[in-house]
Amino acid sequence: MPFISYPRFSENEYNDRIVEMESLGVTSIMLGGRTTINGLRIAGKGQVGLVLRARIGRKTCALKIRRIDADRKTMDEEARLLKIANGAGVGPCLEGHTKNLIAMEFIDGQSIVDWVEGAAKDRIRRMSRSVLEQCHALDQAGLDHGELSRLTQHVIMSDIPWIIDFESSSTIRKTGNVTAAAQSIFLHGTVADRVKKTLETDKEKALSALKIYKRNQTRANFDAVLASLPV
Ligand SMILES: Nc1ncnc2c1ncn2[C@@H]1O[C@H](COP(=O)(O)OP(=O)(O)O)[C@@H](O)[C@H]1O
Ligand SMILES: [Mg+2]
Repeated sequence: MPFISYPRFSENEYNDRIVEMESLGVTSIMLGGRTTINGLRIAGKGQVGLVLRARIGRKTCALKIRRIDADRKTMDEEARLLKIANGAGVGPCLEGHTKNLIAMEFIDGQSIVDWVEGAAKDRIRRMSRSVLEQCHALDQAGLDHGELSRLTQHVIMSDIPWIIDFESSSTIRKTGNVTAAAQSIFLHGTVADRVKKTLETDKEKALSALKIYKRNQTRANFDAVLASLPV
């Protein structure tokens, strides 16, 4: 199990995590997914953690395991931030956490980049609107995700788009979720490049609505942002 203590094996870390898995009620972890680690497939990999599917009781969860080279000592802060996102109706539901682990709802979906490649106009509109509504809810909750300008790694597309990974989020920074997501869906980057082939955005109009919203993040100003975009 190279992912329990990754990227190197530490007996202490390994043993701690086994105890923590037991305390969360994890009965098994399953291989499979889009990322390969030492020849084994898992659900995902980031700078902070590796993500695997795990069984907790009758549920299949996503288990995020802190990398031992992560730039933080615990998963406490990320769990706290995910819980705030959940309070706003956003993000995979937090199931539990320990020092080195976060158990949350498993999102069975596709990377937004792959999804957008084959998606028709109406579905792109619906996805965009849903991401922006979720971002507005985060703005209202005072939680800045922090990485939505890199949308490709932070949205998983299932029936609906799911915003994931709240490790860089903050309750102190000024919120810029709608602004960051709108830019990466419609204006700059891999997803926007694809969206631009299907939906035409009036850049000036969108930027001016976003500028007003940025100063005063009300529902009315958010509606004006939606109206300025081809959603
Ligand atoms: N709840 C989840 N359900 C399914 N896959 C997930 C879930 N959370 C994360 N992943 C996958 O694992 C990868 C790494 O997780 P992420 O939270 O982004 O890690 P990091 O904080 O280290 O960047 C993601 O890009 C995604 O593919
Ligand atoms: Mg990350």
